[in-house]
Amino acid sequence: MCRVLYSGEQEAKLKPNTMNVYIETYGCQMNEYDSEIVKSLLLENDYILVDNPEQADIILLNTCSVREHASRKVIARVHALRHLNNGRQKKIGLLGCMPTNYRRELINDKKLPIDFIAGPDSYKRLASLIDEHIDSGKRTFDIRLSRSETYSDVHPFRAQGVNAWIAVMRGCDNYCTFCVVPYTRGRERSRSVESIVNEARRLAKCGYKQVTLLGQNVNSYQHSEHDFGYLLDKVSEVDGLERIRFTSPHPKDFPRSLLRVVAENDKVCKHIHLPLQAGNTRILDMMNRTYSKEEFLDLVHEIRDFYPDMVLSTDIIVGFPTETETEFDDTVDVVAHVAFDSAFIFKYSERKGTIAARKYPDDVPEAIKTERIVRLNELQKEISLKKNKAHIGQEHKVLIESMTTKKSHTDVQGRNDGNKLVILPGGDYCTGDFVRAKIVDASAHVLKGIVTSVVHAV
Ligand code: SAH
Ligand code: SF4
Ligand code: F3S
Repeated sequence: MCRVLYSGEQEAKLKPNTMNVYIETYGCQMNEYDSEIVKSLLLENDYILVDNPEQADIILLNTCSVREHASRKVIARVHALRHLNNGRQKKIGLLGCMPTNYRRELINDKKLPIDFIAGPDSYKRLASLIDEHIDSGKRTFDIRLSRSETYSDVHPFRAQGVNAWIAVMRGCDNYCTFCVVPYTRGRERSRSVESIVNEARRLAKCGYKQVTLLGQNVNSYQHSEHDFGYLLDKVSEVDGLERIRFTSPHPKDFPRSLLRVVAENDKVCKHIHLPLQAGNTRILDMMNRTYSKEEFLDLVHEIRDFYPDMVLSTDIIVGFPTETETEFDDTVDVVAHVAFDSAFIFKYSERKGTIAARKYPDDVPEAIKTERIVRLNELQKEISLKKNKAHIGQEHKVLIESMTTKKSHTDVQGRNDGNKLVILPGGDYCTGDFVRAKIVDASAHVLKGIVTSVVHAV
């Protein structure tokens, strides 16, 4: 049965003493998924979900800690929400990665207007934490990390949509020296193939056309003797699902068997997010990425041998400690050489508790980090534009995801197999439909098309 509740059903669950909960999500897709888990667990405890903080008795912020900026934003938001006067006794709770990253500060700072705190593995305790806070008036918390919690027994509460996330593994054992994730999310653990396939079947029954398999390091998935390639094949056997995506993989976990599945399985989208982080081997070593510049380039060549038009995107950090101009040029060189379709580029942000924060002073000046990010973004924009323009005149299969776009209420938007955003004029098709579209224009970020036929409607 679909786990999606409609407003009528929610009202039916309403009890005189129930409280309204509003949840705001920051950070990565795993946090989006976790918010769906939290919603489901709270609904089971008779809370009511609301869409805005004004109507809420309980406000939850599901937080990210990956860069300094992400954390600062949340603290500012907590203060703003505390001042929100909605005539209710608001309670504010912090969830996600900040609780586990700033555990001591958050628990001890009496001035922070936070009522309860739950880390990513403690959501089954959330309703009790709220109750305990209400009973005692004291800040309550549970930020223990688990070696086994995967929430595979919880059916996430999803808004009706086209794409659904499925977390297939949690945690990370890689300890890239710059990264807080192994500390905020704990050790790697994978769900069984069976539980994932069952979730995918339920989603297909509910009308979802696409699932995105999630993990902090998704291709290190391993459950008994089954690896990620096996899992992809099994999920692709689910009738009704038409597209399978995955994120975020690590370049170290791409055996040929997995590349073959991605290249040859028709339902697996031809897009790989391949985080480079840096193009210089000394910096990569300091980052503990476990590959060299040459090994990364070899992997890209191998991927393109399997599937020449594979869409590639990446993550890059500029200004890692001690990175020289010549070493940064190696990153520029890899970006130019690989010609990624798109890239997320970040300035290095020192994170407390990480290996880099302990071993390497954050010594690249801010102005140099800015110079490097601007230069790389400009290069990437040129490459993205050129790659997108090459699609003009081609026909793409597009899954419609939204009946409006940021700029227009008459256009619709969707994505092609390679995950590129495609804007189309509205017509006799709607969210969840596949259409064939001829690409007529392109910018660095989007393709524009006209619909030539509707492949099938739901
Ligand atoms: N698990 C994923 C991504 C995790 S975080 C992976 O391994 O690729 C997403 C991205 O944020 C990373 O790929 C990295 O580029 C960036 N990031 C992580 N820590 C950072 C830091 N301390 N400073 C700047 N960027 C960082
Ligand atoms: Fe962080 Fe590295 Fe793990 Fe990604 S693989 S979550 S960057 S430690
Ligand atoms: Fe942020 Fe935690 Fe995701 S630190 S990127 S929300 S894993």
